[in-house]
Amino acid sequence: TIHSVSIIEIPKIIDENRRGNLSVIEKNILPYKIERVYYLYDVPSDAHRGGHSHKACNEFLIPISGSFDVVLKDGESKRTVTLNKPNKGLLIVPGIWRELENFSSGAICLVLASNEYEETDYIRDYDMFLEHKIR
Ligand code: TYD
Repeated sequence: TIHSVSIIEIPKIIDENRRGNLSVIEKNILPYKIERVYYLYDVPSDAHRGGHSHKACNEFLIPISGSFDVVLKDGESKRTVTLNKPNKGLLIVPGIWRELENFSSGAICLVLASNEYEETDYIRDYDMFLEHKIR
């Protein structure tokens, strides 16, 4: 359910000499092996991304730059998470409907996925998603 979606804090190394921050994602931070990396950028502020769920793929979303909202639905409850810190990512497990919206100008959403791209892993129709849940 929606409650299995979690914010994961990415370790942040703050430079002593004010040279800025560094965050590092090592393999122990995620409960899966990363098989694919993609990123969303140049997203107009009125655009909606996502609009699907996955049957098997886990995804970890990081707002590398700027901010955006992730609307999560499990067929019963709805939750909106604003991602706006480059050291805080959102782990979305399979079976969760997600929509990404309200991208700030220059926002970049980095996604670390557990599976290779496979269109058959997507449920892109919300009614089908609800139906899939009942079974
Ligand atoms: P889409 O799933 O609509 O993006 P989002 O969910 O972020 O809004 O994908 C857009 C297009 O890109 C679609 O034709 C599938 C393709 N695509 C790939 O070829 N490989 C990938 O890893 C991803 C995520 C998408």
